[in-house]
Amino acid sequence: MAKHWADFQYEIYLNGMTGAVPRLPTDLTRLEELTERRLGPGPVGYVAGGAGDGSTMRANRAALERRRIVPRMLRDVGERDLAVEVLGRSLPAPLALAPVGVLSIMHPDAESAAARAAAAQGVPFILSSASSTPMEQVAEAMGDAERWFQLYWGRDREVTKSFLGRARAAGFSVLVVTLDTPLLSWRPRDLDQAYLPFLNGVGTAHYFTDPAFRAGLAKPVHEDPNAAVLHFLGLFGNPSHTWPDLAFLRDHWDGPIVLKGVLHPDDARLAADAGMDGVVVSNHGGRQVAGSVAAFDALPRVAEAVGDRLTVLFDSGVRTGDDVFKALALGARTVLLGRPYVYGLGLDGQAGVDHVIRSLLAEFDLTLALSGHSTPAAITAADLVEESV
Ligand SMILES: Cc1cc2nc3c(=O)[nH]c(=O)nc-3n(C[C@H](O)[C@H](O)[C@H](O)COP(=O)(O)O)c2cc1C
Repeated sequence: MAKHWADFQYEIYLNGMTGAVPRLPTDLTRLEELTERRLGPGPVGYVAGGAGDGSTMRANRAALERRRIVPRMLRDVGERDLAVEVLGRSLPAPLALAPVGVLSIMHPDAESAAARAAAAQGVPFILSSASSTPMEQVAEAMGDAERWFQLYWGRDREVTKSFLGRARAAGFSVLVVTLDTPLLSWRPRDLDQAYLPFLNGVGTAHYFTDPAFRAGLAKPVHEDPNAAVLHFLGLFGNPSHTWPDLAFLRDHWDGPIVLKGVLHPDDARLAADAGMDGVVVSNHGGRQVAGSVAAFDALPRVAEAVGDRLTVLFDSGVRTGDDVFKALALGARTVLLGRPYVYGLGLDGQAGVDHVIRSLLAEFDLTLALSGHSTPAAITAADLVEESV
């Protein structure tokens, strides 16, 4: 019998008999407001903020809200199994933690704490290129649990090659290449505070520990940290890449490769033609292009174009169990959870991330059951209606 994630609610109620209540809200949409109150304006602005006036973030939520689930009755949902096969990996549920950089601005235990929480639940942790903890250290914190590596594909091929080699050696199984951030977008919440953690050498841990990166420095990082930061800024992004360049990554990574930030069906087709294994339909949580199409509105078009050729993943706006349900209904195999786990980390470290993962999956399990389904594969587009606005 598969684990029932929904049982987390009984654990909470039983703990309540001793007077204990959860330390964080179980409605995960409330975490942002709580974080705004408890953490400093720089870090909170960096995490909660988006591109321009925030219109893409609002569109992400609105698109998910507009679709409504139509529950079915009397369909024997007593036994349920949330497990899915994704990119040749067996996952206990259709969820992974999205790559999020500079987690040390939220909590001193940073990436290692989030990775440990993910490992404890069997959920893949996708480690950002802009991590504040070196990849080998995060890998060590996870034992042999499932981990994927996210690449910001910069200007220096030697550094890229070195990152891929290190990630493989440290047990990262899937490469997630983020395409939507060759440049940093216009982000007023950060700009108004002149807040950019990288300038203080935060979020540069993979680079500063990398032999190929260090080879480009005149002095060791600790002797001239400013020069190291400038070198990092010079090679971090590369707005000149084009589709044929993907062959380089294919040549240097022998596992699955997923392109993150795909919104147009034609780009998804190009990804398939380039021999990629999957795409993440994502607008980076509304952090890159203001006025962009909502990721959830882009999802069905991408899934229709390449669903039979590529594994389609989804993020941007996922906050609740019913959001997970809706994403699966419109063609995602698995969703990536972003800001909510970062707020959980900021508010309560590893335990906070644990709470967020378990709450989300409990709510998803219950939504699945109460809508008349026993497995993620059973959910289809016919389970949703679109509200007219
Ligand atoms: C503070 C922050 C930092 C992020 N850093 C990265 C990153 O380093 N690499 C990456 O591919 N995506 C990054 N993302 C984007 C997430 O992977 C994901 O696409 C996004 O959070 C989804 O939107 P949502 O959190 O609103 O659901 C970041 C997002 C946030 C909020």
